Amino acid sequence: MTAITFTPISGSFGREVHGIDIALGLDDEQLFEMTNIFVKHQFLLIRNQNITESEYAAFGRRWSGKTRIDSFTEMHLPGYDDINIIGNVGELFQDEEYRNGASFWHTDCAAEPDPDATTMLFCIHAPEADGETVLADMQSAYDDLEPNLKQQIQPLVARHCYAGAKTILGGRYDWEHTLTPVTEETARRFPPPVVRPLVRDHTITGRPGLYAPAGSIFSIDGMDQEYGDRLMAKLKAHVTQPKYCYAHQYKPGDILMWGNTSTMHFGKATQAATNERDQRLLYRISPLGLPVGLTAK
Ligand SMILES: [Fe+2]
Repeated sequence: MTAITFTPISGSFGREVHGIDIALGLDDEQLFEMTNIFVKHQFLLIRNQNITESEYAAFGRRWSGKTRIDSFTEMHLPGYDDINIIGNVGELFQDEEYRNGASFWHTDCAAEPDPDATTMLFCIHAPEADGETVLADMQSAYDDLEPNLKQQIQPLVARHCYAGAKTILGGRYDWEHTLTPVTEETARRFPPPVVRPLVRDHTITGRPGLYAPAGSIFSIDGMDQEYGDRLMAKLKAHVTQPKYCYAHQYKPGDILMWGNTSTMHFGKATQAATNERDQRLLYRISPLGLPVGLTAK
């Protein structure tokens, strides 16, 4: 079997994986190597994967042993309740709420019980322009904060909820999508708010990073709302500087996968597809918990 190799993508942030074919499955050694690089560099890109839906599902289900079932069941890929369809193709995605509902800075699962989930996106169709996923490296961004600010935020405890449920600290940039406010009826789809530290050490590597200072954070314990709003706006502006970001322009066959422990991301907004050249179609799997590959060897 070909040896796996990894090449840099954006400094220390991300690695491209070479020498694996997901269709053949991964042995424990390959899973160990991929997981080791994944936790250190926070995201992986695997290109040119010619795989079936069931081969992709098997890969996602193996990654951490458990996958998330999205409460938006209308987005499920038929036959797979743990694969969501994302993009601008088809009737459902005429609605901007579905098509561009992730077009704002956020961390997946920040308002759910599992802050260490992985997000995987497998590209079926990619437009020639737009539709990128932009990732922010919140470990490097944390490293660069002034010592006084690090000291101030280190003990802070934040509360997170689904983005449409409350007023989110730090506000929205003009280009960011604002979700339709949650009503009593739609609230049933979302879990109750969760409590998280603002700075989290990665469970495996121990490296500290900022945790979800935008998108879902609605209060900070013991802090005045106005002050918290200004502080989160400042942190959001810091971590989303281009030097901490990577924008991935998809090609069909790409699998992009990132850890949510200390990253944020958004999907660039698109129009509804009108022809084959502007179609954006991705299949998302969210393996829950930390990957299990380091113990598989
Ligand atoms: Fe997301």
